[in-house]
Amino acid sequence: MRDDPRLWWQHGVLYQIYPRSYQDANGDGVGDLEGIRQRLEHLQWLGVDAIWLSPFQPSPMADFGYDVADYCGVDPLFGTLDDFDRLLADAHARGLRVTLDWVPNHSSDQHPWFVESRAARTSPKRDWYVWRDGRGDGPPNNWVSVFGGPAWEHDAATDQWYLHSFLREQPDLEWRNPELVRAMHEVLRFWLERGADGFRIDVVHRIAKDPELRDNPPNPGGGTGYGGQLHVHDENHPDVHALLRGLRAVLDEYPERMMVGEVYLFDPAEVARYYGRGDELHLAFNFSFLRCPWDAAAFRAEVERFEALCPPEGWPTWVLSNHDVPRHASRYDDPELGDARARVAAMMLLTLRGTPYLYAGEEIGMRNVTIAPERMQDPLARTLHPALSRDGERTPMRWDADAPACGFTPVRPDATTADPWLPLGPQPPGTDVAAQRRDRRSLLWLYRDLLALRRTHPALHRGQWRALDAPDGVFAYERRSGHQVARVALNFGARPARVALGGGDVATGLHTRPGATLPTRADFADLGPAEGLVLVLR
Ligand code: NOJ
Repeated sequence: MRDDPRLWWQHGVLYQIYPRSYQDANGDGVGDLEGIRQRLEHLQWLGVDAIWLSPFQPSPMADFGYDVADYCGVDPLFGTLDDFDRLLADAHARGLRVTLDWVPNHSSDQHPWFVESRAARTSPKRDWYVWRDGRGDGPPNNWVSVFGGPAWEHDAATDQWYLHSFLREQPDLEWRNPELVRAMHEVLRFWLERGADGFRIDVVHRIAKDPELRDNPPNPGGGTGYGGQLHVHDENHPDVHALLRGLRAVLDEYPERMMVGEVYLFDPAEVARYYGRGDELHLAFNFSFLRCPWDAAAFRAEVERFEALCPPEGWPTWVLSNHDVPRHASRYDDPELGDARARVAAMMLLTLRGTPYLYAGEEIGMRNVTIAPERMQDPLARTLHPALSRDGERTPMRWDADAPACGFTPVRPDATTADPWLPLGPQPPGTDVAAQRRDRRSLLWLYRDLLALRRTHPALHRGQWRALDAPDGVFAYERRSGHQVARVALNFGARPARVALGGGDVATGLHTRPGATLPTRADFADLGPAEGLVLVLR
């Protein structure tokens, strides 16, 4: 049976690009849309199905694009709408779909909507944002910003407070206002009409809050700042689900489009509700792996938990890295093992049931870079703490270590190159695309091989999942679609392990250790520390 193209977002693999850091084409040290277009060949060679572009819309860049000043444009730093159209057309010609980041919870304080809203209490756009009188001299309630300090900013001119769940430059939009809802639906249509294949929706669980804006209760577990409260009133209000059905109806006006929500809740039961009855999100990010230690039992527990909770209309997602958390090659780094753990992690991510999201650079094992305080760019370094800066996971892509700035920024006609917006930093030798493409045993080739295996075997891209018994330290499972069966064993432990695989003749498969030979029978797998194996049976 052939795959249904409408389900590309279930069967395919998505790849996140942080536009500032992928490829600079115009030589200003910041990545751009034309740069991404020039690198589509890499993505096609790798074998991903779709990309997700972090925001490229006009923005004062207080939060590097997550503060949007015009939802329907392109920031000059990244190019023009024509550049976007060219990128989209070329991606489509190569069989790659393109999804966009859409930031509905808040805009920039420079967005014309907010400028108008702020101008007067009587402004027609006043209620497009959340304005309230203070309580005495203080803010309207006790909510705190995710990025530190109170979530309210006083506006002296109109003597009211506006809500900002993030920076004060990111005022929250009022989704209880039908005019705002209609305007935002038009934003989606603008990009869908241009041919965008879908959206990643920023902090979608925050667009509905308690209408009475009640105080959050303290966290009985203690803590200070954001962690010192239980977030029962400032996010995840049940009314979010009606808003999601409205968004879904807009997406459904167009064929084969999808939306994935950043549901930054670590309760998988809550995340699972964002699929509705198949009439809300197509996908909801499950970030549970971001908090998993390097431990087979921990990963198995997270997978089993979500498999049990995921509604029949839903479909899991799996993420190891993104632009907000330290890269997993660093989180799980064991210098004695080289990239062995990154290989096991890749095999797991690409063989589970669910849509994997890759983060640019993970295919070459990029590590986090330690950024000197004076070069830090992320506002969190200022509003929270330098140790919480996200710059380390946002450094430029490493294309070719033999080229200036690893090929991230071009050599100008006068033979100079721009200083990249973040330093490339030290990385283990061979952490670049050119070197790894030359080396058939590299991590990059393993990603490519895993993607190809997954694509050509329905058991791997759409089959059922069940855990297999395995010794301590090993995570083993089976995928099955019709008569096709694949079995996977991943040794997270520090000792060799023998895993029973249930028998059967092996048709094909992959081992994480370069040069390892595959068994011809799936009876047992003998795995060294940080080794994994996937076998597709005959
Ligand atoms: C989540 C995004 O991933 C993050 O980068 C951003 O700072 C916040 N949402 C606010 O938009």
